[in-house]
Amino acid sequence: MTIRKANASDVSNLHALEREIFTPENFPLSRASLSYHVKNNLIYVAEIEGEIAGYILALVKRRHAKLYSLGVNSLYRGQNVASKLLETIIFELLHMGFKQIFLEVRTDNETAIALYKKFGFNVKKTLEAFYLDKRDAYLMEFKAKE
Ligand SMILES: CC(C)(COP(=O)(O)OP(=O)(O)OC[C@H]1O[C@@H](n2cnc3c(N)ncnc32)[C@H](O)[C@@H]1OP(=O)(O)O)[C@@H](O)C(=O)NCCC(=O)NCCS
Repeated sequence: MTIRKANASDVSNLHALEREIFTPENFPLSRASLSYHVKNNLIYVAEIEGEIAGYILALVKRRHAKLYSLGVNSLYRGQNVASKLLETIIFELLHMGFKQIFLEVRTDNETAIALYKKFGFNVKKTLEAFYLDKRDAYLMEFKAKE
């Protein structure tokens, strides 16, 4: 598995992956949004045998970094792809000088919550009816060690 920064030539494949992972009610990112984020934020992809198996996106044009999206193709789940992506982006964000990383996750997404906790994120609060379908989110925070 290779973890590398995404570039403009990855946008089509990222868009296909995004539509596969996130159903319309989960508001998959559009091609234009992905293209914007490749240029202006931080996206890492995990490549396995030439295929993009997963990606992670962090918003960095702000005081605190925010993990905005993480997804792994269902064929490659349970093989540490998300863990490697998360490890890489946390390392990079700390290297960039961010002291806190935030994210929002659906309170019923046990897999993702377990993964984030494994990497040191803690639930800071519950955001009620955060999503358009009125589901709650947890706001989770990772703090850099002093
Ligand atoms: C959440 C997701 C990114 C995990 O990807 P993955 O590559 O399968 O994750 P990993 O193999 O790195 O697993 C890491 C950890 O996730 C958790 N996990 C993985 N599969 C799990 C499962 N079936 N049940 C519960 N926890 C699970 C565990 O904590 C695991 O750590 P462990 O192996 O030490 O027990 C993937 O399931 C996915 O894309 N889901 C749909 C999109 C999504 O929910 N994204 C996150 C919110 S935006």
